[in-house]
Amino acid sequence: MTQDAGDIENFETVSFHCRSPIHLCPTCSHAEKCQDLLNILRIFKLKEKEKPFDFMTNFPFLEQRTFKVDSRNKMNELSSAEWLQFSRTVFSPKLPKMLGHELRRAHPECKSPHVMGQLISFFTKRDDLVIDPFAGTGATLIAAALLGRDAVGFETSPRWVDLYYQACKQHTIPRRKMVEGDCSVLLHNVSKESVDFAIIDPPNPMNPSEWAPGAESSPGVNLDSFFDFMLRVMNQCYRTLKDQKYMAVFSRNLYYKGRYIYITPFYASVASEAGFTLKGEKIWENLGEKLRPYGYPHTYIPNIVHYSILIFRKTESAEEVVEEKKIKAPRGEADKS
Ligand SMILES: C[S@@+](CC[C@H](N)C(=O)[O-])C[C@H]1O[C@@H](n2cnc3c(N)ncnc32)[C@H](O)[C@@H]1O
Repeated sequence: MTQDAGDIENFETVSFHCRSPIHLCPTCSHAEKCQDLLNILRIFKLKEKEKPFDFMTNFPFLEQRTFKVDSRNKMNELSSAEWLQFSRTVFSPKLPKMLGHELRRAHPECKSPHVMGQLISFFTKRDDLVIDPFAGTGATLIAAALLGRDAVGFETSPRWVDLYYQACKQHTIPRRKMVEGDCSVLLHNVSKESVDFAIIDPPNPMNPSEWAPGAESSPGVNLDSFFDFMLRVMNQCYRTLKDQKYMAVFSRNLYYKGRYIYITPFYASVASEAGFTLKGEKIWENLGEKLRPYGYPHTYIPNIVHYSILIFRKTESAEEVVEEKKIKAPRGEADKS
């Protein structure tokens, strides 16, 4: 680059190694005088460097609370704006790779504590008890601890239990209790109506070796026996939850042997069989999911990058229905109440 660069600041840092593309420019043949090019370079030079992710202020609702929670709010400790934001049915959070991510990523289905943290912040208050029957490497337990909630998790694989405790040690995260074993059995030891929130992040139904070692591996059999198993788990969650409390279920649809298996409605019906009321759904777009060229270039095969997080509630009091009716429904939505 010559000094003809005119008003570009710090011109010595702008340089070209190859001029050939410039000769293709229809209006000028000298890179160093091309005003458009200089403008483009200026834009690149001025582009702000990406700021490092601020963990404390971006972890859902972890920052110091400086406001008084509305006295009518019996659910959580959020501001009205935070409440409103959570009520969105779709979210694509930016998730930092921290809190034991390097260790926990060995688990193929490990979730970010940030996602669990959003749910826990909304559905509980400080000191409440959260339960996670399929705890894996402990995303729920880590989030609960950071948010000052108590938590218990169950996990069949000693490897994941170990990784959770290692991550706590490495990052000085207060430990919560993770018990090794089958949740459909262990849940019986949890006292009736003692839990404030349940998070269910189930194993893959098509991989019975994970949740029912020895089961046959044909899709029909798997799905039936998987949902029988899930019903047992959800019955126990219902028993252990306090009245009016919530349960969140992570559902990911599957692509299996050439078919899309729309699994979300199965969770809805099993939970309703266990006595829960379906209250809503949050679609979580997992931006960290790698795209794979499955059907390219001849067949459509989706890259499933979202989860449906189904929100259920234990029973529904008449009081709540009255409360909901008091809120004026938007035009065209009156029939929803
Ligand atoms: C989707 S993963 C959960 C991942 C977890 N949320 C995390 O962030 O690491 C499901 C987990 O359930 C465990 N699992 C399967 N069957 C189980 C059972 N009957 N009782 C307890 N855990 C079970 C699997 O070993 C697996 O780690």
